[in-house]
Amino acid sequence: MSKSAIIIGASSGIGLELAKLLSERGYLLGIAARRVDLLETHASGDPRVKLVRQMDLTEPKSAGVLEEMIGSLESVDLVVISSGTGHLNPDLAWKPEAETIETNVTGFARLAVTAMRAFEKQGHGHLVGISSVAALRGAAEAPAYGASKAFMSRYLQGLHFRAKRSGLPIRVTDVRPGFVDTAMMKADKPFWVATPAKAAAQIVEAIESGRRIVYVSRRWALIDWLLRYLPE
Ligand SMILES: NC(=O)c1ccc[n+]([C@@H]2O[C@H](COP(=O)([O-])OP(=O)(O)OC[C@H]3O[C@@H](n4cnc5c(N)ncnc54)[C@H](OP(=O)(O)O)[C@@H]3O)[C@@H](O)[C@H]2O)c1
Repeated sequence: MSKSAIIIGASSGIGLELAKLLSERGYLLGIAARRVDLLETHASGDPRVKLVRQMDLTEPKSAGVLEEMIGSLESVDLVVISSGTGHLNPDLAWKPEAETIETNVTGFARLAVTAMRAFEKQGHGHLVGISSVAALRGAAEAPAYGASKAFMSRYLQGLHFRAKRSGLPIRVTDVRPGFVDTAMMKADKPFWVATPAKAAAQIVEAIESGRRIVYVSRRWALIDWLLRYLPE
C-alpha cells in the first residue's frame, strides 16, 4: 500500500520541492496553502496529488481543514508543516511582527496539535516542522522571526517527548535550514545558499532515516555550534 503525506505550504519553495520528491518516492499526497491556484497547477501535472486544499494558518479553521484532509486520506503517514513567514523589520512595526507570530507560532502549533492527535488516534505517524537556524539566536532586524522559529523547535521537542512517552511509533523531526534560495530568503549577504531542490532532498533523507533534528544544508550544524559560544 502506498504511503500518504500531507504537505502544508506546498505552493512554492521547499514545500513544493518536497511534494515533487515525495511523489517520486511513491507517496500519495495532500497539499495545502493559501495560493490554491499554484497548488492546482502543480496537482494537474502529478496524479499522485489526491487532495488540494486552500488553507491559511492564521485562521482557526485551518485545523478543521487538516482534519478533513487526514480523514479523506483515511490514514496519513507524514505531515510536513513547511508554511512560514518572516519580515525584515528595521522600524519594528507591529504588523509584520504580529503576522509572523500568528503564522509561525499560533498557526504552526494549531496544526502540529491537530496532526499529533490524529497520529495518536491512528497509532502511528511522522510530523515534520520546518524551523530554521534562525531559531538559535535573536535577530536585530527580525526579532519575531527568530523567536517564532525557537518556539517551533522547542514545541517539536515537546511533541517528540510526548511521542516517546506514548510508546507509539510516532516520530517528530525538526528541520533547521540555513539559507535556501526561495522568496523567504531575505538576508543582505546570504552564504552557503542551498537550492530548494537540494534542501528538499536532504529533508526527505532525514524523513526516511527518522532523524530528530536536521540542518539543511548539513554544514549549518557548525553555525549552531558557533552560536552557542558567541557572546551577545
Ligand atoms: N528560504 C530560507 O532561507 C529559509 C531558511 C530557514 C527556514 N525557512 C523556512 O522554510 C519554510 C518554507 O519557506 P520557503 O523558503 O520554501 O519560502 P516560500 O517559497 O516563500 O514558502 C513559504 C510557504 O509558506 C506558505 N505560507 C505562508 N504563510 C502562510 C499562511 N498564512 N497560511 C498557509 N501557508 C502559508 C506559502 O504559501 P501561500 O503563500 O500560498 O499560503 C508557501 O507555500 C518556512 O517556514 C521558512 O520559515 C526558510
